[in-house]
Amino acid sequence: MAANKARTVYICNACGGRFPKWAGQCSDCGAWNSLSEVAEPRQRPQERGVGYAGIADPTKVETLAEVSAEERRRIQSGIGELDRVLGGGLVTGSVVLIGGDPGIGKSTLLLQACAALATSQPVLYVSGEESPQQIGLRAHRLGLSGGGIRLLAETCVELILAHAAQERPRIMVIDSIQTLFTETLQSAPGSVSQVRDAAAQLVRFAKQQDTVVFLVGHVTKDGSLAGPRVLEHMVDTVLYFEGEHGGPFRIVRSIKNRFGAVNELGVFAMGDHGLREVKNPSAIFLSRHDEPVSGSLVMVTREGTRPLLVEVQALVDESPLANPRRVALGLDQNRLSMLLAVLHRHGGVGMFNQDVFVNVVGGVRIAETAADLPVIMAVLSSYRDRPLPLDLAVFGEVGLSGEVRPVPNGPDRLREAAKHGIHRAIVPKGNAPKEGVEGLEITAVRTLAEALEAAS
Ligand code: TYD
Ligand code: MG
Repeated sequence: MAANKARTVYICNACGGRFPKWAGQCSDCGAWNSLSEVAEPRQRPQERGVGYAGIADPTKVETLAEVSAEERRRIQSGIGELDRVLGGGLVTGSVVLIGGDPGIGKSTLLLQACAALATSQPVLYVSGEESPQQIGLRAHRLGLSGGGIRLLAETCVELILAHAAQERPRIMVIDSIQTLFTETLQSAPGSVSQVRDAAAQLVRFAKQQDTVVFLVGHVTKDGSLAGPRVLEHMVDTVLYFEGEHGGPFRIVRSIKNRFGAVNELGVFAMGDHGLREVKNPSAIFLSRHDEPVSGSLVMVTREGTRPLLVEVQALVDESPLANPRRVALGLDQNRLSMLLAVLHRHGGVGMFNQDVFVNVVGGVRIAETAADLPVIMAVLSSYRDRPLPLDLAVFGEVGLSGEVRPVPNGPDRLREAAKHGIHRAIVPKGNAPKEGVEGLEITAVRTLAEALEAAS
């Protein structure tokens, strides 16, 4: 009798760990209150190894050298910035997860990409959120003919896959993964086990049929994908929309990519006719001031494979609080605290009674350490109310002993700066090319003290 009872297990939403008993904390990853109860689907052994529509799919063992090393075929989406974040186009048989806040433009981007792709490939757009009429209205608004796009409003994975087996699309969009459910499980759509199981079936389909599958994923309030983190492990590529919601710019960042560079950025502007590519993003992250202002400085960051000029702004103001505030937008807060300590110890300037705010213009998030030196210099410029030159660009990592360390691809960054009207640069010694860069006066520094000296 016990054998007939549906078995329940507990799955961690954060890491996907499985446990026979509930506990307040996941013993695998340490996350609190993350276990949810799911019914375990019983899989009959004879189901294994059999693909869709009953196609037998025997696996075999191969020698690595015999595996074709030929690059997978890539399909160009016709949207350059999307192809760029994907590492140079869509890879056949890959699964791409696209996450982002509601209303940021996920459906818009995918509909535009589908319209472009449908001219040469069979495309299936599956929507669990919008009716075909709503999608039609959107396509109309975007000025897309939508000729070749096949639409399906369905939320049952098994039915979607049955349709897909007939349609044989080369590209399939699922908008969104949280609306899907599978018949094999009892729990509600959107629950951890449903999302996980639906995604697993779609991944299997993508690999077997060599179809590109885009999964739209919702994010929770704290910015992570709703559903288990395992979703990110299951797919080949994870893209996130970031950027300021109010503003026109939308940044798509690859945070995982089995077929390209991570942290690659695609930059778009949202307008009346949907998302438009921004081909020269350096220009939009610089708020050109007419006069030099204190606390503002241009830095050269390199996200993915492209150097990017962005403006870093700092405001240092006397604090009425016992614990002055340190606020970093677009940067890591702990890193800011560390840099202020380095500035005190090795630059001789303490900010114990000052509030310090640092912001990266345009809603870009900077994940690399090249922002260290520009942040310190912007903070100091605001503190002393002494503007830095408009045509100065800075990058470099600052260590705890006050040394300025080189960052990857220095010459690349310097050339990008020269292209955008920068005439002076303060950079780590190891990043200054011997032959120089045309039109750029480069000051190479080894320590924070040298850098502050050069800027004064
Ligand atoms: P949408 O793609 O529906 O977002 P998501 O699928 O990520 O939830 O984004 C729609 C938002 O974009 C909505 O707030 C309206 C705006 N928008 C435009 O500004 N211009 C347009 O041409 C379209 C289609 C949408
Ligand atoms: Mg949507």
